[in-house]
Amino acid sequence: MTKLISRDSGLEQVRIPIHSDIDIVSARHAGRSLAEQVGFSSSELTLIATAISELARNIIEYAKFGEVTLEIVNNGSVNGVRITASDTGPGISNIEMAVRGGYSTSGGLGLGLAGVRHIMDNFDLQSAPGSGTCVTVTKWKL
Ligand SMILES: Nc1ncnc2c1ncn2[C@@H]1O[C@H](COP(=O)(O)OP(=O)(O)O)[C@@H](O)[C@H]1O
Ligand SMILES: [Mg+2]
Repeated sequence: MTKLISRDSGLEQVRIPIHSDIDIVSARHAGRSLAEQVGFSSSELTLIATAISELARNIIEYAKFGEVTLEIVNNGSVNGVRITASDTGPGISNIEMAVRGGYSTSGGLGLGLAGVRHIMDNFDLQSAPGSGTCVTVTKWKL
């Protein structure tokens, strides 16, 4: 179930547990609506929804379940959308290769994380084998 969290800043935040494909759809929709509030163009909305899909799909594919938090953030001058995808799954043993692209342990293209990094302005990946993965990305409405 999608959870709306109110924050002191008054900026909206939504947390979506990710267990199956239907949750990916919910996360995409929630992200689109937050990004619309920030004023992103329709092509930017599509890119943000794509980033959410890729990160949520990785949760299901590699960790089985986890959660995605979506929030409107402000850096003092502009608003943006932040996506945090976290799980307590197997983690990533070679972060550098996974982020560079072309590396996949599932026979995929290995372009999900590289694509997300390209689409978004800030990209942070914390992961260690056995202790899960947390990817935090932000796109600013410049
Ligand atoms: N949440 C995650 N938990 C564990 N491993 C992950 C996770 N997300 C990504 N990975 C690892 O990083 C690799 C690259 O991911 P990605 O760029 O999305 O490409 P693909 O999913 O096509 O393999 C994956 O093959 C997997 O080994
Ligand atoms: Mg992927």
